[in-house]
Amino acid sequence: MGKTISGFSKLSKSEKIDWIVDTYFSNTTDAKQVLKQYWHTDGKLQQLHDEFIENTISNYYLPLGVAPNFLINGKMHTIPMAIEESSVVAAASKSAKFWLDRGGFKAEVISTKKVGQVHFMFHGEFDVLERFFNTVTSKLIEDAKSLTENMEKRGGGILDIELRNKTEDLKGYYQLHASFETLNAMGANFINSCLEQFATTFKREALNFEGFSDEERHIEIVMSILSNYVPECLVKVEVSCPVEDLTENKNISAQEFANKFVQAIKIAEVEPFRAVTHNKGIMNGIDAVVLATGNDFRAVEAGVHAYASRNGRYSSLSHAEINDDVFRFWMEIPLALGTVGGLTGLHPLVKLSLELLHKPSAKELMQIVAVAGLAQNFAALRSLITTGIQQGHMKMHLMNILNQFEANDAEKLTLTEHFKTNTVTHVAVVAALNKLRK
Ligand code: MEV
Repeated sequence: MGKTISGFSKLSKSEKIDWIVDTYFSNTTDAKQVLKQYWHTDGKLQQLHDEFIENTISNYYLPLGVAPNFLINGKMHTIPMAIEESSVVAAASKSAKFWLDRGGFKAEVISTKKVGQVHFMFHGEFDVLERFFNTVTSKLIEDAKSLTENMEKRGGGILDIELRNKTEDLKGYYQLHASFETLNAMGANFINSCLEQFATTFKREALNFEGFSDEERHIEIVMSILSNYVPECLVKVEVSCPVEDLTENKNISAQEFANKFVQAIKIAEVEPFRAVTHNKGIMNGIDAVVLATGNDFRAVEAGVHAYASRNGRYSSLSHAEINDDVFRFWMEIPLALGTVGGLTGLHPLVKLSLELLHKPSAKELMQIVAVAGLAQNFAALRSLITTGIQQGHMKMHLMNILNQFEANDAEKLTLTEHFKTNTVTHVAVVAALNKLRK
C-alpha cells in the first residue's frame, strides 16, 4: 500500500529511491537495479538530466531513429524521430523515398504569430473600460520594454494588444488579447513574462484612472498566460504528381489508388471518429520530430487538434484532390516551435538532432515537422487503402514479440526470414519460436 510523505523533494536521489522501493516494491533490489541501469555513467550528463525536472529517479529512454531521403523545397534532409511505435520511422522513410522520385515535398510558412491573454473581470461600462485601455496601451508596451528589448533588436516583439469584450460568454469577463513575434524561440517564457507585466501595469494604472468609479477601478486579474492555440502560426506542406506516376502497387491501378486515397481523405473530413485516427497518424510523424528537437509536443498536440475543430466539427487536417489528372495532397497546420531556448541548447541529443537538420530556423523546423506529418499520413493511407495496416504493423511488431520472449540473435534472424513470407500474428510468432526451440 502507498503512504504519504512530506518533504519528498528535499530528500537526496538515493533517499527518494529508498523510500519508493521500500513503499511500493516487494523485491527492492530488483526495482533499484531497473532504475539504476538507466543512469548515465557520465555523472555530469546524468546531473543535467536530473535537473530537467524535480524528483528525477532515472532516465526514461525512447529510441531516436532517423528517416532519410526527405526532399523538402529542393533540399535533402534526414529527419530525426524520437518515438516508441515500431512502424513510424519505417513508414516515414518509405514515404520520403516515394516522394523523392516525384519532386519531393513543398513547404511554406504562412504566418508566425503567437498569442497570449490577460484574463480579467470588470464590472462597469465597456465604453469607460475601452477609454482606459486606449490611454494605457502605450504604457503597457513601455513597461515591458526591458523584457522586449532583445527580441526587438532581432526583429520580433509585441505585435498588438487588443481589448476584447467577452461578457456575452461570461459576465464581467474581458481580455487583453496580445500577439507576438518570437522569431526562433517558441516564446512561452517571453510571452508569459510580457503578459504578467501587462497585468501589473493594467491593474496599477486602473487605480488612478479618473473615468472609473471607486468600484470599477479595482480590476480583478484572473490570470495571464500564452495560448497554445496558434491558428496564425501556420505552415503549409504539399506533394503532387501526375496520377499515372502513383503506380507502385501491382494490385491496384494508379487511378484507382488516387480515387481511393481522395475518398479516404473525404471520409476523414466528414467523420470525426475517423478524423481523430487519421490525424493521430499525422501526429505520429509530428510528435516524433517535435520530441527529437526538444520542443513541447503537448503544446503542439493541443493547438493542432483545436485547429482541426475550427469549423465547429473535428475534421481531417489533410486534404487531397485530383485535378486535370494531377494528384495533390496537402495540409495546413499550426506549429509553435523553437530552435533556440528551452531544451535546444541543453539536451545533447536535441543539439545533435538540430545539427542533423542543418541547424534550422524555427520557420524551417515548422516546414520539416509538417512534412514528417504529411509523410506519415501518406504512408498510413497508402497501407490502409491497399494491403491494410496490419501487414506492415505486425512486421514491425515482430521484433517486439521476439524480445518479449527473449529471443536470441540467431532466433531473431531465422524468424525474421520466416515471417518475410508468413503472416505475423502473436500466436504464429510464439508457435514458430517454440518450434525452433524444440
Ligand atoms: C497508427 O498509429 C496510426 C494509424 O491508425 C493512422 C491512420 O489510421 O490513418 C495507422
